[in-house]
Amino acid sequence: MQIKILAFCGSSRRDSLNQKLLDTAVLGALDAGAQVSNIRLLDFPLPIYDGDWETEHGLPERARALKALIADHDALLIATPEHNGGYTALLKNALDWASRPIESDPTGLEVFAGKLAAMVSASPGVLGGMRAQIALQISLNKLGLLVIPNAFALGLAHQAFDEKWLLKDANADKSVRGLGAALVTTASTLRGSFPSGRRCETPTRGGVSRKVRIRRRGSRPCARL
Ligand code: FNR
Repeated sequence: MQIKILAFCGSSRRDSLNQKLLDTAVLGALDAGAQVSNIRLLDFPLPIYDGDWETEHGLPERARALKALIADHDALLIATPEHNGGYTALLKNALDWASRPIESDPTGLEVFAGKLAAMVSASPGVLGGMRAQIALQISLNKLGLLVIPNAFALGLAHQAFDEKWLLKDANADKSVRGLGAALVTTASTLRGSFPSGRRCETPTRGGVSRKVRIRRRGSRPCARL
């Protein structure tokens, strides 16, 4: 069955360097045979997370839509700028809302359980947003996602793309496309290793592991054990 990748970027800027880098990784995932949904977080406008707001209004419709998309994909491909050493508020807010419980996902985390993620970042600075990736990896692991090691941080990114949004450097282009492809092949391999009904460990909100069933697309949500 075809692997489904959900791609999104922590910058909503029209000329975002990170979106350009993400689009290159997406090309690699497509070449590797995946179906890719390359969404814009701008299309998921959400209030800044606030517990009182949530109690009063419930989960926003756009947060439900984002959760449903995550549930329907095998892996996440994420690009993020670095903002003051961390990843962006836009991305954090989207992940925070997506982690909130709903009727079909009482812990809030079942949409993430046992799925893969890959990260890229771009910055005009020399480190390419590497610190943002460290912060993002901590959050993704906490959500129960397995982050593959093929990360890419693009430094001096304001000089790196041509007018068609393609990377000028052939080696960088190959690496970023390779990252997209690696996400697909790793997801395929894991799917083969964990047929429906096998179990894996995933963290709970309290940090204690619990067993969940690996969710296959089209199957019932993960059982809570
Ligand atoms: C930045 N930028 C930045 N860059 C970096 O390498 N390390 C950092 O800590 C920061 N911090 C930071 C904070 C804030 C509030 C802004 C607005 C910017 C610069 C940032 O990497 C640059 O604007 C990127 O071009 C943003 O990514 P997009 O929108 O081009 O994808």
